[in-house]
Amino acid sequence: GGPGCGKGTQCERIVATYGYTHLSSGDLLRDEVKSGSERGKALNDIMEKGDLVPLEVVLDLIAEEMLKKVSTSKGFLIDGYPREQAQGVQFEQQILPCTRVLYFDVPDEVLVKRVLNRAKTSGRARVDDNEETIKLRLNTFHKNSEPVIDYYKDKCTQIVALNAPDEVFAEVKKVLDAI
Ligand code: AP5
Repeated sequence: GGPGCGKGTQCERIVATYGYTHLSSGDLLRDEVKSGSERGKALNDIMEKGDLVPLEVVLDLIAEEMLKKVSTSKGFLIDGYPREQAQGVQFEQQILPCTRVLYFDVPDEVLVKRVLNRAKTSGRARVDDNEETIKLRLNTFHKNSEPVIDYYKDKCTQIVALNAPDEVFAEVKKVLDAI
């Protein structure tokens, strides 16, 4: 789903209930930025503009984390990925087919409010949580990420994520309990 739809919020609940290994592509990218590497500096500029980082970089980071954790994992929950159809194609070709895709449907105006509110209250500054970058992130989401739903139509469940987090999670559980 779009920026601020509640991916991280629902992933916390999914991990607590099902014990999957949570990998967030955004968190992995922010960790790379924090590491101070040359690759990290280039990533920060891209994220600040609300664009997608090159798909090879994201896949490398995800694959490295999966390899570290595969021997003990009960399954992987990958948050914020695939963000464009090509990422899904590449992941399934090089790693393995995915089991399910969850999409959280929230209108743009609610997304903007949630992200700006998080920026005020979370105490964690992000280069992309400002009004200008949110607009760019929304454009990127509609242009690149929304078509992924159609690509995965046989595996994707859409959940309207406007209710409180625990109510949204009740819908998520219906999907995951059926796996
Ligand atoms: P990423 O870190 O993935 O950010 P995002 O998709 O913009 O999503 P957010 O983390 O902002 O929000 P969320 O959906 O997790 O919502 P949350 O639970 O925090 O990506 C950042 C950037 O990295 C991208 O722009 C791109 O540049 C790059 N990137 C990442 N992945 C990439 C990829 N695969 N390929 C290329 N580039 C990539 O909730 C938000 C707020 O709302 C919180 O305050 C929360 O408490 C509240 N909230 C949550 N649920 C509810 C609810 N049901 N009701 C009311 N409030 C709620």
